[in-house]
Amino acid sequence: MAAPLICPSILASDFARLGEEVRALETAGADWIHVDVMDGHFVPNLTMGPDIVKAIRPHTSLPFDVHLMVAPVDPWLEAYRDAGADILTVHPESGPHLHRTLGRIRQLGARAGVVFNPGTPLNILEEVVDLVDVVLLMSVNPGFGGQSFIESALRKIERTRAILDAAGSKAHLQVDGGVTSANAGACVAAGADALVAGSFVFKGGPSAYAANIQALKSA
Ligand code: DX5
Ligand code: ZN
Repeated sequence: MAAPLICPSILASDFARLGEEVRALETAGADWIHVDVMDGHFVPNLTMGPDIVKAIRPHTSLPFDVHLMVAPVDPWLEAYRDAGADILTVHPESGPHLHRTLGRIRQLGARAGVVFNPGTPLNILEEVVDLVDVVLLMSVNPGFGGQSFIESALRKIERTRAILDAAGSKAHLQVDGGVTSANAGACVAAGADALVAGSFVFKGGPSAYAANIQALKSA
């Protein structure tokens, strides 16, 4: 089994040193930088605007994987793309026209992703599978880092893998929330090829990032 892409969530980083944090993640072997954008309305927490993404963009050449927990999301796509996002992932609940939103993201030259909350039905994926480069499965309810992995996500990863394979899709299957070395192997065995991790990657401080990332890759 190929090692998964590791996408550290900078939600768990030291916000006073964001530039240094993304540089340290790149040195430590991260594949994508996962940016959790929360609007205090779609989810009960408020985080990073496009100016923050723009400020950290010069500090790394890694792809920025921007997870938009914002509703309505359409008015923000261009601003995050201009700020340096390479991948924009959106929740079906964050706008009335998911198909149009995904098309718009690709039109802006970014890779498009759709995100499923634990309670969101997967059948939506069949309608937009040709429009997505990433499928992000939430293994916690979005809003906060440091929550526990919801075990039923494993079965949902398998079901997603089956839908993608049946459609001949090469989209990445990414998992987000409560990912640790204790469940990363099971996620990959179920069909995931990209893992988001916040708390697990950042624990122990910068000198531990490389070992933490390696522990997820080899789990
Ligand atoms: C939750 C976010 C996740 C989360 C990951 O809304 O989308 O990216 O911060 O953090 P951990 O790995 O701590 O669950
Ligand atoms: Zn996220």
